[in-house]
Amino acid sequence: MQKIIITGGAGYIGSHTAVALQESGFDVVVIDNLSNSSVASLDGVASITGTRPCFECVDCTNIEALRSVFNRHSDAVGVIHFAALKAVGESVQQPLLYYRNNLDGLINVLTCMLEFQIPNIVFSSSATVYGVPSVLPVTEETPLQPATSPYGQTKVIGENIIRDTVLANPVLGATLLRYFNPIGAHPSGLIGEHPNGIPNNLMPYITQTAAGIRPMLRIFGDDYDTPDGFCVRDYIDVNDLAAAHVAALQYMLKGATGISTFNLGTGRGYSVMELVNAFQESTGADVPYQIVARRAGDVPAIWADASLAGRVLNWRADTPLSETLKSAWRWQQNCKK
Ligand code: NAD
Ligand code: WQD
Repeated sequence: MQKIIITGGAGYIGSHTAVALQESGFDVVVIDNLSNSSVASLDGVASITGTRPCFECVDCTNIEALRSVFNRHSDAVGVIHFAALKAVGESVQQPLLYYRNNLDGLINVLTCMLEFQIPNIVFSSSATVYGVPSVLPVTEETPLQPATSPYGQTKVIGENIIRDTVLANPVLGATLLRYFNPIGAHPSGLIGEHPNGIPNNLMPYITQTAAGIRPMLRIFGDDYDTPDGFCVRDYIDVNDLAAAHVAALQYMLKGATGISTFNLGTGRGYSVMELVNAFQESTGADVPYQIVARRAGDVPAIWADASLAGRVLNWRADTPLSETLKSAWRWQQNCKK
């Protein structure tokens, strides 16, 4: 069995990817400091797949501890680096925390990969690297814009750190995956997104409002230059996203070298109001909302051209939106129990 190390594997996208990797026959080692997750997600992975991933509770910014884990798992054939802090607003308040955690962590992971000759890295990048795009949909060739937050900067800089490291070390191959807006949960309802405190992101805010945990969803702005005036995003099912990581690894393991970059989205944009309505229709749950002023820093509209991943990785996001919304709701209801 080929071994894959996933940093941040106890988190939202990492836990779904752990399931997808195990279901594809990989042996999974999770490294996570549990700063934004708990081992309950690994219990969920174990219930779904019948196998509990090996868990190493380590902070990627601690090079000695990380080295010792890599030493024990030096037979790994690849690393998926999810571990990062991701709250955009918090990153504006605490930039050094974000630069240290996200960039020191990445540098340490790359250092260990070179030391132990682990040849493939998949990196969690983000559509945030495109800033406010002037042409839609965005392709991988769309020029990157200055990031609007320290969080976004860590993705732009992270991509560059990986590019330079691969250039200097051709034994290393890398895939940069630029996620659009991941939503939903595993169909079993056993794993999902577990935000700490008040959610920043739309989907968990919708499900928590429907569950009565929040009194009202605030919709930020109805005066954008979009068809219905609301912001438009490309919402991608987290299970489709997880499958893309498996496809990316398999592509590298078949011999692809150098750096590949892929947008991971559905290729279709939905406005905030369309998403709220689709959620209510798919689940029958009511989402009280009020329209308030725009949120500072929001991009009016962005969606992906993800056709490169279709052509090269033979991957596409094909879960119907209604299924994704039902899974998000199922997970939310399980969280209350
Ligand atoms: P998450 O917070 O659920 O998962 C991240 C995991 O990394 C958590 O389990 C956390 O405990 C762990 N972690 C953080 N810093 C660590 C460190 N120094 N050492 C070890 N573990 C550490 O977030 P997610 O939504 O699953 O995001 C995964 C990755 O995808 C992140 O890199 C994020 O920036 C990126 N991303 C997420 C989104 C999104 O909307 N969710 C969009 C684009 C990109
Ligand atoms: C989506 C839409 C909001 C909450 C962020 C990061 C990005 C990436 C994904 C990691 C927007 C609206 C939201 C609410 C609302 N993360 N909204 N009421 O801003 O597209 O992207 O998460 O890389 O980097 O910036 O996602 O879910 O916060 O917002 O009306 O309570 O929902 O205005 O139009 P966003 P989001």
